[in-house]
Amino acid sequence: MQRIILDVDTGLDDAVAIILAAGSEAIHLEGLVATAGNVGLERTLENTLNVCEVVGIVAPVFAGSSKPLKRERVHAGDFHGVSGLDGPVFQQRRHQQVQKGSGIQFIIDTIMNNPGEITLVPVGPLTDIALAMQQEPRIIRVVKQIVLMGGSFVGGNVTPEAEFNTYADPEAAQIVFSSGAPLVMFPLDCTTKVTLSPDALARYKTFGGESAKLFCSCMDTYMANYQKKGVGYPAMHDPLCIAYLIDPKPFTYERHGVSVELEDQATYGKTLRGKPCKEGGVLVAKGADTTHFWSLIDQALLALD
Ligand code: RIB
Ligand code: CA
Repeated sequence: MQRIILDVDTGLDDAVAIILAAGSEAIHLEGLVATAGNVGLERTLENTLNVCEVVGIVAPVFAGSSKPLKRERVHAGDFHGVSGLDGPVFQQRRHQQVQKGSGIQFIIDTIMNNPGEITLVPVGPLTDIALAMQQEPRIIRVVKQIVLMGGSFVGGNVTPEAEFNTYADPEAAQIVFSSGAPLVMFPLDCTTKVTLSPDALARYKTFGGESAKLFCSCMDTYMANYQKKGVGYPAMHDPLCIAYLIDPKPFTYERHGVSVELEDQATYGKTLRGKPCKEGGVLVAKGADTTHFWSLIDQALLALD
């Protein structure tokens, strides 16, 4: 059983990560922290609460950071819509409400109270993780691992060089990558290999159930926005981190150092490959098994509905 804290900027693919985590018995959600990213914090928090309500997650949801450490805020609304989760229409929530207190303090307390047990899964900008490390450096040694979606060594999706999550808070990303914490990284190199085809989406529309309906409504928007931008089919960036925690075997990896460009404006937020290493550094996912990933989504949707 993987005990995880999901740090999200919900977002359409963040929603799929939440659905996959909720529907997989290998995952125990200790809590979620919403952070600014795809859209502002108010919207990512509301989106996260709504998705949790629909899939029946009772774990606590906290508010994280509303802005990056240093740079001006950027957003990715052109993929996710103005609301950050365009598509689904949600009923008035009956259960899930935001918890009082800081999401960053929740991350620190949960890790320190459960040494070696908690996996952090950040799938948005790394602001919350960097602030938690600065406020309580001991979490770097006490966290079980940090499995993050972000970065790219094959070109960017928000600038020609930078991926959105690292571009949205490069200083935070540099703090995390240089921390020495046990890191597993899912960059665009890997995540762009797992996409949702129109035929696969049509098949999920036959599933029925509230979670499948939510998934399909989110993916209708995601598909339309990808097609509008002429960049192929929607990539399953964030849920791959959950798929790894369910079963790491279908992926291939490299291990090397990672740093983040902070000075050069043209490549600001780009992740830079360091020396290959046998230990330390970052475990970087390179290859994925698409069929295996979609079988996990099938199982999660069937389990939830
Ligand atoms: O570059 C992809 C990442 O940026 C994903 O986490 C997506 O949700 C957006 O936040
Ligand atoms: Ca995200």
